[in-house]
Amino acid sequence: MLSGDDQQSQALAKPAFSEAQASALVESIFGLKVSKVEPLPSYDDQNFYVYISRTKETTDGPTEYVLKINNTESSKTPDLIEVQSHSIMFLRASGFPTASMCPTKADNITSLVSVDSGSEIKSYLVRLMTFLPGRIIADIPIGPQLLYDIGRLAAKLDKTLEKFHHPKLSILRRGNFIWNLKNVPLLENYLCALEQNRNREIIEQVIQLFKEEVMTKLSHFRECVNHGDLNDHNILVEPSNSACGDAAYQVSGILDFDDMSYGYYVFEVAITIMYMMIESKTPIQVGGHVLAGFESIIPLTAVERGALFLLVCGRFCQSLVMAAHSCQLHPENRDYLMITAKTGWKHLQTMFHLGQKAVEEIWFETAKSYESGISS
Ligand SMILES: Nc1ncnc2c1ncn2[C@@H]1O[C@H](COP(=O)(O)OP(=O)(O)O)[C@@H](O)[C@H]1O
Ligand SMILES: [Mg+2]
Repeated sequence: MLSGDDQQSQALAKPAFSEAQASALVESIFGLKVSKVEPLPSYDDQNFYVYISRTKETTDGPTEYVLKINNTESSKTPDLIEVQSHSIMFLRASGFPTASMCPTKADNITSLVSVDSGSEIKSYLVRLMTFLPGRIIADIPIGPQLLYDIGRLAAKLDKTLEKFHHPKLSILRRGNFIWNLKNVPLLENYLCALEQNRNREIIEQVIQLFKEEVMTKLSHFRECVNHGDLNDHNILVEPSNSACGDAAYQVSGILDFDDMSYGYYVFEVAITIMYMMIESKTPIQVGGHVLAGFESIIPLTAVERGALFLLVCGRFCQSLVMAAHSCQLHPENRDYLMITAKTGWKHLQTMFHLGQKAVEEIWFETAKSYESGISS
């Protein structure tokens, strides 16, 4: 469990810049003339939508940007943010719809801004990236074709990141980072955020099974760098204009590389399945379509496939336990956090009660139907 001090520093870490201050930062650090600034949602950091006016120096290039101001805690790890920013640039150069990073006047991709709050000086890492088109997938109905495409994209992303080199890449070995899927057992430190009821019992059982069935097999999984957070607010889509396929939407943006870390192929697909389930009216069916897309690029081994059920359950536990913990730290966000959590608890209960064998059967049968060309 975090000490009282840690809890407090986390609670205070979120930046609170005004729109006028955000606008001033863009002008002074990036040398762009701002004509409009609007706040964007954010979990721990602060994001602004920024529209710039063209000047003599910026006659071409994008006019819409996102200003990202990291919280005071993550601003203390500039090397990690640099590696994340470079991987976003590398993916863009490799053809993925990730943002372009806007250079500062001093030709850096980040800038450290210090603010004197009277009692102390706080430092924030600031970046400006291009605004990507489209809507978050949380806002649209997601059909099988899009689930397949997202699974495929997740696998391509992991494969492409294998070609990414950076002198500080090892910083992505993030040890006890709570959102790395191998750290499900660390949730035991946060269980006090949950009430004593059936939901908590399920979480405890998943953690126990995870220790016995997943932790013992980690060395058999194939390692890679994961995006680690392909959730329904981090993928943008726009109406499809492709001549081939019958998809109504295509992915137009991949956002939020804050949770990147060394993991395994099977972690990426498990995380993606869990978040796609949250938005679905038929959550148990989701896994098969995502898996089929993922396996069209990276077929899983038998051991990896055998762990998938508990990995998806484990991700539900991470999300639900950490949401409950966040509620204690930020009671003002309670309503928002509870709405999301309500669906999550329901899906975890359903999955857990159906059991591994029944769920796997549905997933693997669906995935198989793609192989034989029945389903797509
Ligand atoms: N480059 C971008 N293009 C378009 N929208 C963005 C961009 N970056 C962020 N957003 C919007 O802001 C939201 C939060 O940004 P994100 O980078 O995911 O931060 P967080 O870490 O707080 O989740 C996204 O869900 C999206 O709606
Ligand atoms: Mg996000």
